[in-house]
Amino acid sequence: MPIKKAWLFLLLAGSSISSADGIIADMQDEIPAQQKAANLGYFEPRDLSKIPEDAFGDKVRKGYELFVNTQQLSGKYVGNQLNCTNCHLDAGNKAYASPMWAAFLAYPEFRKKNNKISSFAERIQGCFSFSMNGKAPEIDSPELVAMSAYSYWLLMGGLLDMFGMQDKAVPEMSDKALQQGGNVDSFKLPGPLSDKVKLDARGHMPGRAFAALEKPSQAPSPERGAKVYSEHCALCHGAKGQGTVMADVPVIPALWGAQSFNWGAGMHRVNTAATFIFENMPLGKAVQLKPQQAWDVAAYMNSRERPQDPRFKDDVATTAKQFHADDDGYYGKEVDGNTLGSAAFPATTVK
Ligand code: HEC
Ligand code: HEC
Repeated sequence: MPIKKAWLFLLLAGSSISSADGIIADMQDEIPAQQKAANLGYFEPRDLSKIPEDAFGDKVRKGYELFVNTQQLSGKYVGNQLNCTNCHLDAGNKAYASPMWAAFLAYPEFRKKNNKISSFAERIQGCFSFSMNGKAPEIDSPELVAMSAYSYWLLMGGLLDMFGMQDKAVPEMSDKALQQGGNVDSFKLPGPLSDKVKLDARGHMPGRAFAALEKPSQAPSPERGAKVYSEHCALCHGAKGQGTVMADVPVIPALWGAQSFNWGAGMHRVNTAATFIFENMPLGKAVQLKPQQAWDVAAYMNSRERPQDPRFKDDVATTAKQFHADDDGYYGKEVDGNTLGSAAFPATTVK
């Protein structure tokens, strides 16, 4: 089997993860980590230089710009110093750093928790509220349409290339269809895939979300994590996890503190952070930590204070019970004598 098509085999064959588990949405439900597809080539999105010079291309380019420099929405929709691309690496292209091409194909997706279907644009809204500690743009806003258009273009361009249609422009789609995502009957895939990719396989493109990481042999420890942090992370992210800002431009993102993601974000969970870190950090030297070190450093980073969960109600204990009862995070738990969440920074500084 030619390597580039190998992932298609997986996609067509479905996977062991049932689609009902693969749920996310406005409340940052957890996306199960995927077994890494060993020795398979991953999907390659179309090269950005091929974004066309026309009105649709402008929308796609706008989406790209917002994705890599989300700080241009600072104070309007963004309340911290992060950019989407800080977590969705390589401008949302990198497999197992929750790439946008795989995400676009997975929505609309069903959410078990409230029996609600969420669209692609709604899922982006979730990252604005929590990961960006901000205020989500309206569903019909040019910003969300542009980011959806960009994600769609990466996916569709890559599929066309894969099937020898390098010269074919990515077909334009209406704003409505872009907001919705590719997991609907009306979203037609090109070439030989047109009637083959079953709807229930569209959430399982290899490379989606984060790669599964083996469980730690010892319970993750913030104490051991502090050591890993100072050896492998502090040089870039700073002794206090504050990141680096140069000439007013954040160049290295904050891992905790006022300028990082808030207590409601997916990355605040130790398991999610550990899978991300193992696969992607230290930047440029990824997959160097031992799994136990990734778990420990994730526990350290996620047991420091950060902006409050914007769903906060009454007090930390009530909020923890309502929103964090079964997540793998430290909200409401005690570390070094402090109950995390009780000294949180302001949630959502943009109003
Ligand atoms: C060489 C510098 C460098 C080192 C060392 C490094 N990182 Fe990063 N890290 C970055 C940069 C830069 C980004 C943003 C990547 C981008 O925008 O493409 C990032 C992104 C992140 C993110 C996601 C964004 C955020 O703010 O939450 C996490 C989490 C993270 N790093 C954790 C770690 C951990 C834990 C370590 C140590 C094991 C580490 N990093 C080591 C440079 C580094
Ligand atoms: C601090 C890291 C971080 C930042 C910054 C961030 N995200 Fe996310 N995003 C995540 C995590 C973690 C998930 C997986 C959700 C989970 O399992 O809880 C996710 C999931 C998503 C998904 C769904 C992926 C899928 O396969 O279902 C989309 C779409 C998305 N983010 C878009 C964005 C956009 C657009 C921005 C910028 C406005 C952004 N994100 C900023 C961490 C981040």
